Amino acid sequence: MENNKVALVTGGLSGIGKGTVLELAKQNYTTIIFDIQDDKAEEVIDEANSLGGKTHYRHCNLFSSKEIEESFQYIRETFGRLDCAFNNAGFGIMPKPFDEVTEEEIDKELGILVKAHMLCTIHEVKLMKENGFGRIVYTTSGAGLLGSKGMALYNACKHAIVGLTKGAALDYAKENITVNAIAPGTIETELVSPYKESAPDVYAQWAASNPAGRLGLPSEIGRVVVFLFEEDSSFINGTVIPVDSGFCAGK
Ligand SMILES: NC(=O)c1ccc[n+]([C@@H]2O[C@H](COP(=O)([O-])OP(=O)(O)OC[C@H]3O[C@@H](n4cnc5c(N)ncnc54)[C@H](O)[C@@H]3O)[C@@H](O)[C@H]2O)c1
Repeated sequence: MENNKVALVTGGLSGIGKGTVLELAKQNYTTIIFDIQDDKAEEVIDEANSLGGKTHYRHCNLFSSKEIEESFQYIRETFGRLDCAFNNAGFGIMPKPFDEVTEEEIDKELGILVKAHMLCTIHEVKLMKENGFGRIVYTTSGAGLLGSKGMALYNACKHAIVGLTKGAALDYAKENITVNAIAPGTIETELVSPYKESAPDVYAQWAASNPAGRLGLPSEIGRVVVFLFEEDSSFINGTVIPVDSGFCAGK
């Protein structure tokens, strides 16, 4: 199957990002991964390309606006276009009451989960406008739609992404550029899986937090990203899609 679309996945070397890179590979996308875990790149590229992808890695520390700018310059010079982007890279902090959160943690969480997504979006839109086509998707979270105890900082960052999704969606709706977000439930990523053996009770608690009683798979998020990237998904704009087995539907 011929696919000339070029996609970007931030944080594509692990977890939800990697799961999405593999789903895009099955659809023969040319995919560029921005990440910092250089030692993982070759293995992920090989796995994706064995599925039919044309996958590339660019070291880009998303805390650096200079590296972000240079990395988009690399996309422009190497591929000449960008059709789709999944802004996903991030990490959480251990739950704690908000008054125990430090300024350093605030800067880090806002930096990776909000500012980097905004800076990437500005570069993405420039390339997509030249193209007359664009699909932008963010990873927010159930924590971007609901509050959760001990998670106020993460809640604030993920709610910010919901606001960004809605506002930016309206800015580009007439230019065939859509902006949407996915709100995953608890997903079995590299952050979570080791607990299966080391702390089975914690792992079981996480699994139980999803109404299905199990953790979600990165591929289950990746498939929704692929769907939102499609040309035929052009009328879906400014929305947040929970992929959480019903977590956001209520108790
Ligand atoms: N796993 C879950 O249950 C879950 C649920 C809801 C939302 N999320 C969100 O999904 C996204 C991905 O999480 P995940 O669970 O797949 O985590 P993960 O740790 O498996 O993957 C995150 C990736 O981001 C990369 N990254 C981190 N800092 C970076 C930086 N400064 N520059 C470039 N890349 C960087 C990491 O190297 C890693 O490859 C995050 O935004 C997270 O908040 C995760």
